[in-house]
Amino acid sequence: MAMQEKKTSRRTFLNALWVGVGALSLAEIGFLISRFLKPREQRFAENTADAVIAAGSVDAFDPGSVTAFVRGKFYLARLDNGGFLALSRTCTHLGCTVPWVDDEKRFVCPCHASAFSINGEVLAPPAPRALDLFDIRIENGQVLVDTGKRTKRVGFEAAQAVYPGRA
Ligand code: FES
Repeated sequence: MAMQEKKTSRRTFLNALWVGVGALSLAEIGFLISRFLKPREQRFAENTADAVIAAGSVDAFDPGSVTAFVRGKFYLARLDNGGFLALSRTCTHLGCTVPWVDDEKRFVCPCHASAFSINGEVLAPPAPRALDLFDIRIENGQVLVDTGKRTKRVGFEAAQAVYPGRA
């Protein structure tokens, strides 16, 4: 008798579990459908607002430093001359995440050993071009990085850096 009750309660539990899983799946499908049906402009506006990241005060970044930002997946590099670059952390070879190696003062890709300088320029192949850039603007002494605006480039040019106090 007790065995029968145990079987019944296990069956009841499994049934409840399946109902729960089914309800979750339906909720997820509903969310995806509502997201799909949302007007494109509205989605774009949300994404654009999310894309601008306040990195911090200009003075918080020493010349010659690289700071990683998890949100937005970029590095903020401050060049020795005070200019700022926001670099994508995605390798331009096959897309691995490229860490900054502070001891070597360069980015080194763990996948196929491409290396990039602090300004994102290729130091060692097989990466075919420099790390992508994100737009930067400096307002009231704060560095703002727009991760929605990415620029692909072959190499580094001085005009790519953004300087405090310059328009
Ligand atoms: S993915 Fe970085 S070197 Fe290949």
